[in-house]
Amino acid sequence: MAVAFCDLVQPYVKGIHPYIPGKPVSELQRELGLESITKLASNENPLGASLRAIQAIRDELEDISRYPDGEAYALKQRLARFVGLNSDQVAVGNGSNELLELVARVFAGPDDEVIYSQYGFAVYPISTQIVGATGVEVPAVNWGHDLDAMLAAITDKTKLIYIANPNNPTGTFFSKQQWEAFISKVPENIVVVLDEAYLEYAASLLDTEQSFNGVDYLKQYPNLLISRTFSKAYGLASLRIGYMLGNSEIIGYINQVREPFNVNQFAQVAARYALDDQAFVMEAVKVNKVGMRQITDALNELKIEYIASVGNFVCVDLGTKALEINQQLLEAGVIVRPLANYGMSQYLRVSIGTQVENAHFLDALKQILKEE
Ligand SMILES: Cc1ncc(COP(=O)(O)O)c(C=O)c1O
Repeated sequence: MAVAFCDLVQPYVKGIHPYIPGKPVSELQRELGLESITKLASNENPLGASLRAIQAIRDELEDISRYPDGEAYALKQRLARFVGLNSDQVAVGNGSNELLELVARVFAGPDDEVIYSQYGFAVYPISTQIVGATGVEVPAVNWGHDLDAMLAAITDKTKLIYIANPNNPTGTFFSKQQWEAFISKVPENIVVVLDEAYLEYAASLLDTEQSFNGVDYLKQYPNLLISRTFSKAYGLASLRIGYMLGNSEIIGYINQVREPFNVNQFAQVAARYALDDQAFVMEAVKVNKVGMRQITDALNELKIEYIASVGNFVCVDLGTKALEINQQLLEAGVIVRPLANYGMSQYLRVSIGTQVENAHFLDALKQILKEE
């Protein structure tokens, strides 16, 4: 008799809803035979990546037969200098996604609780379930984290809290004042992961009183971890490289549970050179600011509601027609992200692109709405 593998699988694995990525351009090309496609579905950098980073990868091709540096020595040194910490306070991962998962592996297991927000990044519940812990989803307020309610959700079983600032997919943020009130009240035996994947964009869209940099709080709060990525403002999404900052003891445990060669050599060198090219990051952030204006001005004109965002994306409220409009946008060659899996089925999340890409989306949307 055939084995019923579903009876062998850990019960908590069965309950995992896999991450749903943005539709790849090649897939839409295959399906519809379209030549020109605009992808605004994965919060990628529309400018590509730093030319210095790309050249560094070319130079590295010769050594493809060698394993990468498992310690990522040069990159960690460079990152440590960049953030003003010691290199033993830095861990690197196969995207920040991997690091978010590794933290759960280090701190949580069956019988433990992990807190995150409703509409929080999908990887938090997945990371929680992978280790058999119980996810505690705290209802959002105005689409963003309700930090007081998150504090109130802490129990004796809480091991970990994931928060993102700004949040994806909603683009909401909490201010420096709100953050300080929150972190000062979290018991020190609970680890807080502050996910700053969109930090660079938020810093450009917020005034200095509201925005803050998690690194400034690491000394005071040894239970704090910061996670960051090269996938967004640095434009290296395909290489899969992110980093985590925290106290050296916790970073040591993260290194203990990671794969020996979790970050490939191309990612390591590209990230180093990308860090050196802050002019590229500044340009990306500038283009995002202008593009956010372009899209939100047009939405205002069309009287379409959206969630105010400080990321490189915006959630557009298209009511009960959202999925239908998504399909029509695909047929017009525009890929955006439906959010039904986040319980936000009336919204489509649109990443900010170049001026031309944004115009492609807006023209297609206007045409669809006109035809209704
Ligand atoms: C809030 C947030 N954190 C982390 C990530 C993971 O990014 P990566 O694994 O590419 O570093 C993303 C990606 O979309 C994100 O939106």
